[in-house]
Amino acid sequence: MRKGILLAGGSGTRLYPITQVVCKQLLPIYDKPMIYYPLCTLMQAGITEILVICTETDLPLFKSLLKDGRQWGINIDYTIQAKPEGLAQALILAEPFLDGSPSALILGDNLFYGHQLQATLHAANNMTDACIFAYHVANPQAYGVIEFDQHKQVISITEKPAIPKSNFAMPGLYFFDHKACQYAKNVLPSHRGELEIVDVIQQYLDSGKLNVDILGRGTAWLDTGTPDAMAEATQYIAAIEKRQGLKISCPEEVAFVMGLIDQQQLTLLANQLIKSGYGQYLLSLLNKNFPNEMH
Ligand code: TTP
Repeated sequence: MRKGILLAGGSGTRLYPITQVVCKQLLPIYDKPMIYYPLCTLMQAGITEILVICTETDLPLFKSLLKDGRQWGINIDYTIQAKPEGLAQALILAEPFLDGSPSALILGDNLFYGHQLQATLHAANNMTDACIFAYHVANPQAYGVIEFDQHKQVISITEKPAIPKSNFAMPGLYFFDHKACQYAKNVLPSHRGELEIVDVIQQYLDSGKLNVDILGRGTAWLDTGTPDAMAEATQYIAAIEKRQGLKISCPEEVAFVMGLIDQQQLTLLANQLIKSGYGQYLLSLLNKNFPNEMH
C-alpha cells in the first residue's frame, strides 16, 4: 500500500512578513487552510496513510488542525524537519514511516484541481515505477523543467534553469517506488545547500523507471508561495466554488464520498463548524446524491 508524505516545512521567506509567525501551509486559500488542498489530493489518489513533515514550532498547530486523521477516516502521523534542507530530505526522514512502502510526496503549498484528476491520480497510484507530472507554465525558470524529445520521452530534468529547455514544469507531486529513500541518501547537497528532489528523480530516469504524465489544460496546478500566487489561488477557488456550489478539496467531503466516513460522522463534523458556510455545506452533502462522474 502506497503511503503519502505531505511536506509542510520550509521557511516561507517569499511570504515574509506574513509567514514570520504563521507558517505558509496554515494560511487560508479562500475558505480553508492551504494544507487541506494537498491533503485531499493524496486522499483522492486513494492514499489513507499520511505523514506530515513540518518544523518543530509548527507541529502543535498541525496536530491541532489535522489531529490523527481518524475524524476523516485516514491516519496522519507527524515528523519534524529541523531545517528546510530540501525535498529529498523528507524521503530520508520518512523512511521509518514508509517502512519499505512506495510513496507519494506532495508539497504543502501545491493545489491541484480539474477534470479527470482523480483518474489521473489513481493511475499514478497504481504504477509500479515512479511517476511524476509535467505541466505547461508561462514561467518555467521558477521550477524543475522537463525536456522531452518528439516522442514525448524525457531527455532531461533541470531545477530552476536560467534558460529553460521547455515550458513544462514539474508539479510538486511525485509517486515513487520503495527505492526512494535509498535514492535520497545518494543525493549530495546542491549549491543552495538542499537535497534536491530532482536528483532523486534523475536516478529513476537513469534506471529507466520514470513515467511522466502530462497534465492537460483542463487541470489547474497552482502553487502558493508568493503573495500574488496566494491571491490568485484564492480568487480561482472562490470563483469555481461560488459558481458550482461545490467545494474544492474539502477533506470531510472527500472522506464521505470515498466511503471513509459515514453519515453520522459527517454530521458530527458539520455540527462542529455549523456557524460557517463550510459547516452548512457539509450538512448539505448528507442529502445529496451525486452521479459518479461528479466525484
Ligand atoms: P519552497 O516554496 O521551495 O520553500 P519555502 O516554503 O521554504 O518558501 P520560500 O522559498 O518562500 O522560503 O517549498 C515548497 C514546499 O516544500 C513548501 O510546502 C515547504 C516545503 N518544504 C519543506 O517542507 N522542507 C524543505 O526542506 C523545503 C525546501 C520545502
